[in-house]
Amino acid sequence: METVVSGIRPTGNLHLGNYFGAVRNFLKMQENYNCYFFIADYHSLTTHPNPKDLHGNVKQVLAEYLAAGLDPEKSTIYIQSDVPAVAELTLLLNMNAYLGELERTTSFKDKARQQPENVNAGLLTYPVLMAADIIIHQAHKVPVGKDQEQNLEMTRKFASRFNRIYKQDYFNIPRPFNFGDELIKIPGLDGSGKMGKSENNGIFLAEDPKSIRKKVMRAVTDSGPTEPNSPLSEPIANLFTIMEVVSKEETIEFFKEEYSKCSIRYGDLKKQLAKDIIEFTTPIREKIEAIASDEQYLSKVAKMGREKAMESAEKTVREVREIIGFRPF
Ligand code: TYM
Repeated sequence: METVVSGIRPTGNLHLGNYFGAVRNFLKMQENYNCYFFIADYHSLTTHPNPKDLHGNVKQVLAEYLAAGLDPEKSTIYIQSDVPAVAELTLLLNMNAYLGELERTTSFKDKARQQPENVNAGLLTYPVLMAADIIIHQAHKVPVGKDQEQNLEMTRKFASRFNRIYKQDYFNIPRPFNFGDELIKIPGLDGSGKMGKSENNGIFLAEDPKSIRKKVMRAVTDSGPTEPNSPLSEPIANLFTIMEVVSKEETIEFFKEEYSKCSIRYGDLKKQLAKDIIEFTTPIREKIEAIASDEQYLSKVAKMGREKAMESAEKTVREVREIIGFRPF
């Protein structure tokens, strides 16, 4: 059976981008693959080093994973920092990761621009830690959104470089994965760019309906089509992209037709979109609330996941140490 690994940083509640870019794929995969889903709390330290929030954020994302439908009986759900073997593999992979390639990574350049006062080494080696997360379980597939494509490319590079340096076909070379042909990008409500936790343009699974409605009604639009069949501007195309994941086909068709006839009313489009988002998020939100308050269940899930993840991770690190040439006295 093929192995799947994927993770999410606990730097805020899960939004529709996380759900449709990654979680939706996890849900389908847990039936037919050996799945590891984790919360990347080491990674979150590269941008959010706040001890007061760390545990609460991890707990929230764990509750959200479970509420969205991840099943701890079928999959291994764990917290990254519960498995220190990941840190050891990162250290070993760091020896074969080069400064130039790390500095050229888009996410490093973006983050260095966003937080010039904190361009830490963790940001630089972020893709190495991510590679360790993935290859420590010998993953074949990694369900992620489009924004993680380059990080995945780095993972493939580090895994094959290790195999080459040590002249062994040891690591699987994992592939980014989405059930469609392409990795997807859910846009934000601000007219351009992706929906993100730090972009302040997202809709969260745990968000209350009133707030969702308000955000959608305020989403950026344009001044409307002036000629029949004119192409969609980016902000409008973005609203349709979100519609495509939450609304019925006939709803989308209806508004597309209204657009091409120039009779579309963006107010109506937004009202419908808000309604469909709320219909989609409400059952998940209700489950999140119930699960987040069940400390006992959460700690049982985390413990179960830790044990399973440690077993697989420690086996890999043992073998890697052997391959590198460490010998016990
Ligand atoms: P993170 O926490 O930013 O996002 C988690 C997952 O959600 C996807 N995603 C999106 N997909 C589509 N449209 C969007 N607007 C959108 N926003 C987020 C991301 O692609 C991701 O799949 N580096 C990773 C976390 C990580 C990881 C890993 C992932 C650490 N180690 C190993 C996979 C395997 C990250 O920051 O994701």
